[in-house]
Amino acid sequence: MKIILLGYMASGKSTIGKEISKKLCMNFIDLDAYIVKKENSSISEIFKTRGEIYFRSIEKLYLQELLNSKADFVLSLGGGTPCYGNNMALILASDAESVYIKVGIPTLVFRLISEKSNRPLIANLSDDTIPEFVAKHLFERSFFYEQAAIILPANDQSISEITKALKIALP
Ligand code: S3P
Repeated sequence: MKIILLGYMASGKSTIGKEISKKLCMNFIDLDAYIVKKENSSISEIFKTRGEIYFRSIEKLYLQELLNSKADFVLSLGGGTPCYGNNMALILASDAESVYIKVGIPTLVFRLISEKSNRPLIANLSDDTIPEFVAKHLFERSFFYEQAAIILPANDQSISEITKALKIALP
């Protein structure tokens, strides 16, 4: 089985992914980390030197590579992955179980203000503009996120509570 975790930046995709993969004795892959390894460059560096369009093209390429592989794994996507090209359609057409890690705006804003620096889309925003940016951006992206097979609320619950709920929700 392939399990794909998606959701906004700072929703906890990687943390939850690592935890559920341990529980299910499956491999864990973080798409951003996979890209960094393949390209031998950090995400911020790729954005800076090659631009976002290049990043979106390789993000799609590596997503397809993983979806087409025979391996089983838990994969956490980047926040934008399902929202570009036909990535969400590819995910839904694959045999992977898609899970939206759904976190509300206040929690996302709180986390993102302290974790801006390695996120090129928000790194240059002042803290006071982040709430409006996140509200608008999440509204646009929710169209894609909400298509996931499983929608997992992950606001105030602990990682172990979220992981437990995910285990129950999986087929
Ligand atoms: C992005 C989210 C990042 C990373 C890149 C773009 C986005 O991943 O893929 O900076 O478009 O939301 P995280 O969601 O892990 O921060």
